[in-house]
Order: sequence, then structure tokens, then C-alpha cells
Amino acid sequence: MTSRTAAPLLTAQDAVDALVETRERTLALVGHLDDAALERVHTPLLSPLVWDLGHIAAFEDLWAVHRFASMPLLRPDLAHVYDAFETPRAGRGALPYLRRSDALDYLAAVRERTCALIEQRDVGDGLLHELVIRHEQQHDETMLQTFQLAHLPAPPGGRVVPGPPAADAPDALGGLELVTVPAGPCTVGADLADGFAYDNERPRHAVELAAFAIGRAPVTNASYLRFVEGGGYERREWWSDEGWAWKEEYDIERPLAWTADRREWRLGEHAPLDGEKPVVHVSWFEADAFARAHDARLPTEAEWEKAATWDQRAGIARLRPWGGRATDTRHANVDQLAYGTASAGAHPAGASPAGCLGMLGDVWEWTSSRFGGYPGFVPDPYREYSEVFFGDEYRVLRGGSWATRPRIATATFRNWDYPQRRQIFAGLRIVRDA
Ligand code: AVJ
Ligand code: FE
Repeated sequence: MTSRTAAPLLTAQDAVDALVETRERTLALVGHLDDAALERVHTPLLSPLVWDLGHIAAFEDLWAVHRFASMPLLRPDLAHVYDAFETPRAGRGALPYLRRSDALDYLAAVRERTCALIEQRDVGDGLLHELVIRHEQQHDETMLQTFQLAHLPAPPGGRVVPGPPAADAPDALGGLELVTVPAGPCTVGADLADGFAYDNERPRHAVELAAFAIGRAPVTNASYLRFVEGGGYERREWWSDEGWAWKEEYDIERPLAWTADRREWRLGEHAPLDGEKPVVHVSWFEADAFARAHDARLPTEAEWEKAATWDQRAGIARLRPWGGRATDTRHANVDQLAYGTASAGAHPAGASPAGCLGMLGDVWEWTSSRFGGYPGFVPDPYREYSEVFFGDEYRVLRGGSWATRPRIATATFRNWDYPQRRQIFAGLRIVRDA
């Protein structure tokens, strides 16, 4: 067992509580679905839902049992079926993955081993248990993407977080109003005192940035609709070469969920397009074109993090200005089971020190940054989480979405995907040099 922090990340009781709560939510996602909905490949972009379940169990057995206590795997025969790296999503339908009741049994059997070991040996420094908890929570969001793309009925009890009355929500002008962040230093990333962080968030390092002006809120549907109607998908000069080629090849004319008349959208729900909510399900290419059309660009990761955390007067990063370890639903629209973005600016109490709204929750925000290691990056504890994805192919997204669990939705968390992907709950915020 290595020791990465002075104090353990969590107690045995915290670990068990979080494992139990996380599992309840995972199971709540699938309880109402029939076997076909659970076991079918809905789209090559995502796994069958029941594959996610087996994979969650396999990951837990690997890290909380095998690596934690050097015990043999419960089902070594399944290791290759659930190795995400060996079999990319598009190939998973052909694997002999466990069907519903076997997958549920596997989840329960592994969980019994995990809890028995915690009782016998405590959790060490807590790192492996944190990883297991967060891994399952991240897959919950992936599963919700499958729900949206496959039009599956939302889990019962899904709460739609109401925003404050429109009159109380600061008007952020559709995401086009900008806040100036002065030139100067800031820090990027997490350090040991912040508790758990993924390897790709470390080490925290200082950066010096020029002044910039960043959207006070994410770009809304209303602003995006104006872009579409103003020739957004026809004006070659607003698109990168790669983005234009992608758009032409796939005949992209509007965000993924919008219907052809652009007044409605249909994914998990079928509803009129709400102009005050952030645009969602756009690719990096579309986000980039929208920004260019507004004489702007996408923020770099460092700019995004400075706007989300930097307290200019105190000269420190406030990772959660309101305190506490996890992002809570009073400050951000996170942790929902049913589709629900809030109006842009709906959580004024969660404003960043710089005055930006909605940086956490609602929609992931594309940045211009490629996914790579920070200076001094060390893989920890497993290379396959981050390092194998480093390079120019992936773009980084920040801030979490309505579907992200509070533990994951932090100002230093880095998500990544290909620039053409639209299944993520992703929108954008624009930036201009100041
Ligand atoms: C951080 C969301 C890009 O889904 O590929 C899940 C998270 N890693 N299992 C992914 C993850 C391993 C990862 N993302
Ligand atoms: Fe995984």
C-alpha cells in the first residue's frame, strides 16, 4: 500500500456508505427497464447498459479486492469481456457479457468481497476505494447518455431541479455577456491537501495568463438558434478544416437533439426548445464554430479553471467557493436522474469568485485544450485511466453536467472526448482576449 496523503482520504465507514449509496443509484437507473432495453446495443458509441453493470463489478473486484488485498479475481474468465481498453465500445455487443440476472449477481458477489475486506483490513489510504466509488459514478453518467440516445424512459423518481424564478436568475444574455478576468497568475490542478484527485489533475502548478473575457454563463439555446439561423452551418469561414469536413460528411445542420424545425428537441424527452437553457449535445467542432462566429474562441483549460476558481483579491484558487467537499445541488445543477438542464445562471449561489455562473453542473464545457499530462505528471495508480489517452486527438471538457455526481463535479476534474462526439451532455462558454 502506498501512502499518498498524510491523512486517509476516507474512513472505512465513509467508504461503505459511499459504496452503498452509489450502488443504490446505479440500480435505480436500470430497475424499470426490461431485459431487451438493458441488454441491447443501442448505439456503437456506447455499451449495452448491462455491459456497464458487469464492468462496474469487474473494476471493483480488480481494485478493491485483487489490488487492495492481493486476492485472486472472483471471475478471471470475465476479465477480457470487461476490459474497456481491450474492447472499445463499438465492439462490445459481440462479447459474451453477462445478461441481467448474472450481471446483478456478479455486482452483489463482488460487493460482498469488498465489504468483507474493508471490515477485516480497513481501507488503507483510501485511494483504491475512492477510485472504485468514482468509477461507478462515472459509469452512471455514461449510462444516462445511453438513455438519451436510445430514448429509454427516465428512471422513476428522477427529480428535475427547479431553478429560481426567472426574475431572480441573473440575466447572462444568453451566454454572450462576458466577465473580464485580469492578467496574472493562477494555479491549475489539485494538490494533496484537496483530498482525492485523479492523476491527470496533478500536480497543481502555477500558470501566468494574459487578461481574458469569458462568458458569464454557458451559451444558451436561444443564442445557438440565432447562430444556426444566421448561417452557422453554412459559413465556411467559421469552421476549422477538420470541422467542416466532419460537418459535410455527416450532414450536420443542428445540435444532436434538435428536431428539423429547430423549435423542439427530442432525446430522452420531447419538448419545446427552451431558449434560456444551455445548448447541449454539440461537438467540439460546432462549439468552435459558434465561438468563431462571435469573434471569440473556446477557453483553454487554464482559463476555464481560473474563471472557475481564482479569487483575485485573495490570490488563491477556491476550488469550491462555498466550502464543503462535494458540489451540492444548491450551488449547481448536478446529480439528476432525469434530463434536466437549468436556466443559464440558475444557481447564483454557486457563482465563482470571478462572477461566472454555472461553471459546475448543467453541461460539460468544451475547452480548446488537448488532453495531456500536466508538467511532472505521474500515472497513479493505473496507466489506463488517463495516460493512454494523452495526445492531440482528444479535447478536454470541464465542469460536469446535470448527470454528474457531486463527488466528481469539481473545478479541477478533466473529462475528454473526440472533437466530433455529441453524445456527452456538452455545451460551451466563449472567451475573447481582453
Ligand atoms: C473520464 C469519462 C472519459 O468514460 O472513458 C470510466 C471515465 N474511465 N471507466 C470514460 C472512465 C474508465 C472516462 N471519462
Ligand atoms: Fe470504466
